[in-house]
Amino acid sequence: MQYPKTVTSPTFEHHRHPLGIGESAPRLSWRAVTDEPDWTQSAYRIRVEGTDGAVLADTGRTPGDDSVLVPWPGPPLASRARATVRVRVWGGADEAPSPWSEPATVETGLLDPADWKATLVTPDTGEEEGPLPVALLRRDFHVDADIASARLYITAHGLHETEINGVRVGDEVLEPGWTSYNHRLRHRTHDVTALLRPGPNTIGALLGEGWYTGRLGWDGGRRHHYGRRRALLAQLEMRHTDGTVRTVTTDGDWHWTAGPLLRSELYDGEHYDARLERDGWSRPGHDTHDWSTVREVPPPTARITAPTGPPVRRTRTVPVHGVLTTPSGRTVADFGQNLVGRLRIRVTGPAGHTVTLRHAEVLENGELALRPLRQAAATDSYVLRGTGQPETWEPSFTYHGFRYAELDGWPGPFDPAAVEAVVIHTDLERTGWFDSSDPLLNRFHENVVHSLLGNFVDLPTDCPQRDERMGWTGDIAVFAPTAAFLHGCTGMLSGWLRDLAAEQLARPDGSVPLVVPDILDPPMGGRPHALWGDAAVLVPWALYQETGDLGLLRAQYPSMTTWIARAAGEETEGGGLWHDPDQLGDWLDPGAPPDDPAAARTDAGLVALAHLVHSADLLAETADRLDEKGDAARHRALASRLRSAFADEFVTPSGRLASDSQTAYALALSFGLLTHETQRRRAGERLAQLVRRSGFRIATGFAGTPLICDALCLAGHAPLAHRMIAERHCPSWLYPVTMGATTIWERWDSMLPDGSVNPGQMTSFNHYALGSVADWLHRTVAGLAAAEPGWRRIRVAPIPGAPLTWARAAHLTPFGRAEAGWRIEGTTLVVDVLVPPGTRADIHPPGGGTPLSRGSGRHVVEVPYAPDDRPVTMTGHPFVAGSDVDCGCGAQPASGAGPHGG
Ligand code: BGC
Repeated sequence: MQYPKTVTSPTFEHHRHPLGIGESAPRLSWRAVTDEPDWTQSAYRIRVEGTDGAVLADTGRTPGDDSVLVPWPGPPLASRARATVRVRVWGGADEAPSPWSEPATVETGLLDPADWKATLVTPDTGEEEGPLPVALLRRDFHVDADIASARLYITAHGLHETEINGVRVGDEVLEPGWTSYNHRLRHRTHDVTALLRPGPNTIGALLGEGWYTGRLGWDGGRRHHYGRRRALLAQLEMRHTDGTVRTVTTDGDWHWTAGPLLRSELYDGEHYDARLERDGWSRPGHDTHDWSTVREVPPPTARITAPTGPPVRRTRTVPVHGVLTTPSGRTVADFGQNLVGRLRIRVTGPAGHTVTLRHAEVLENGELALRPLRQAAATDSYVLRGTGQPETWEPSFTYHGFRYAELDGWPGPFDPAAVEAVVIHTDLERTGWFDSSDPLLNRFHENVVHSLLGNFVDLPTDCPQRDERMGWTGDIAVFAPTAAFLHGCTGMLSGWLRDLAAEQLARPDGSVPLVVPDILDPPMGGRPHALWGDAAVLVPWALYQETGDLGLLRAQYPSMTTWIARAAGEETEGGGLWHDPDQLGDWLDPGAPPDDPAAARTDAGLVALAHLVHSADLLAETADRLDEKGDAARHRALASRLRSAFADEFVTPSGRLASDSQTAYALALSFGLLTHETQRRRAGERLAQLVRRSGFRIATGFAGTPLICDALCLAGHAPLAHRMIAERHCPSWLYPVTMGATTIWERWDSMLPDGSVNPGQMTSFNHYALGSVADWLHRTVAGLAAAEPGWRRIRVAPIPGAPLTWARAAHLTPFGRAEAGWRIEGTTLVVDVLVPPGTRADIHPPGGGTPLSRGSGRHVVEVPYAPDDRPVTMTGHPFVAGSDVDCGCGAQPASGAGPHGG
């Protein structure tokens, strides 16, 4: 018998929580769970029922192996519609079906602007400048009959936390998140049935400024990027057991007052005076004689949309790891991990006493290193109410990137158990893992995961600590493949891509903003930049590789084509090349001086044109898959014209490049920019030479870093890639780990080997871009990759290499868990593979040999192993650490593990 033991209950689009979704015909995915070898699905049956049990759709037995993003089989769902879906599958033509899956329930949010009856209300009375106290808003209402179900649809200009009858609604943080507020404003749907009761009820909301009116941007930034007023939009719909519906919305009947949160800023932190707390403010019967009426304001101009991914949540707490007294006598809690979130304190003391919490990622000279924060105060303060009882407090509308927190004014002796760090990030599902025989490399990989989570706070940001925390497009452009492997981020990033498209297509020239949501003022914000703009192509493409979601490519297609048209137009005006000198180029090349991160070894025009060719290639592929044949031919012709232009300008006939740099060769080899075999061979040799001459230290910035190991492998120099990844001297991937790093740093030497912080401005200790090599660790070192978009075919092609003796990766594919790994056992190399149901893997034994095609199940392949004793050396340049080597950053090698490395 060949049937799955179970099939998972279906999921909807890319949602983890399908309450309040925005798709009226959500595509369905499921996974068969079976140990049967070689299992493939031969048919499926989907059954959709309404809340009353009525069958809305039943596909019957439908032949086919589709199980990922299968079209919605029923009639489109209206706003507020709820349906339950089950699925069963067949494994072979004549087999019995699996049992029905557990039912999955989906419910739509408000799909049509006309569904909104609520009025936007603001607590502001005049033209206030801010920072403003967080406002409390409330409204009493009466429930006349028993409630069968109730939903709260809610969003804000600013940030809100809502309560009903004194109970917090939901567990989301920083709602409604940061979207391109001028175009898209996200709402969320909450099931609040259990919070309501017949009789008097109250709904109340805290309303902070957040990204809407709060300060954003470096050099002091500015406030009011989106408007001058915070405002709340809430619609509470209650269905009584007798079938009648009552709706309570934000309107002129709401009241507001200032609460105890006197200041709340994303960069600067919060100031909370517990003496001003209003007990029972969101419960019926609260005395509101000194509250004011809210003001109704015009409705949002942005489209109110439903979420495409999960919200930000508190995902874990971290206890104090150690307590230090700094040379200046301050008490500092060390959490042992650079993380993103805020502190929760429990404190007892006299009324009016203030505890101040200041956050930093690293220490310098034993004190908090605050310079990397630039103009972000990152300071929270709490004024005690002084009841004699322990008081517990955690900020609401701010977050910090920190490993260390200085606690000033703690009343009495400091008890480490009284403080914990609360980690927040978009609540993504973990889907990827890697480990190996090198603990340092494993720690590096763990650091990548931490930097991913710390920077996925509703949008993909550059950093979580200083006065930026923006959706820098270039950073996610290089990191998207790694992110998509490690965490299920397609839902979140597809929402962000809609913002990217909205911002881009609203620009007269179709260029992609450097940051999305775009808040940069011209001139920096106004001009197109290679790699950053290529996010319009590279991010959708990475998500498509992971999911096989052609719908996502279709949705982004206008943005992708507009970007290429813009970039190619730029090319024409520049006389055959993208000549704009103001490119960010290979940003943060370790050879660039601290104060000039764009001054890379590699010509910025070369970086720009290489990316344009690559994006044009990917766009041609995209057009093919979307059946846009004419476009595909056009983009192919463009790519070929640009390739020739690249060759004319930057490549000698023998394969030397105009920039004799690791990045230049990595780009040319990876993007197929060298037309002749001899050129490729010579370029590969030259890259190998450069790598050896650098003492295996990295010499790439944002552009070259994701590619250099692949380029070395392509050129037949995999041992050098392994050698580079094992390097510990600065600059290298492992150098920060030797310095105690627990996240990925922005620059290779954010902290110098002597423990001082790099004197430059770009010295974040939590930036994921340089962690983009993790994609290579997964695909090539462990050898686990999708052979086609969406993982139906898997390619297992590990390239083992010294000093590793084993490595492995696992990934939760759309079909189930896949694993690949290898280990050396004496004279045998054992490759261990797990192929999920419904897929096939092509296993390429290391060292050559015929690939094996295998269906689902575990497979062990053994090949003879003879250690390669040839040392990987710097030919002609005996390697003396830190002496004659061009290490770029000017730093000496690390002497050992430093204790304070973020
Ligand atoms: C950000 C980067 C970004 C860069 C581009 C920096 O300030 O932190 O990660 O991509 O600027 O200019």
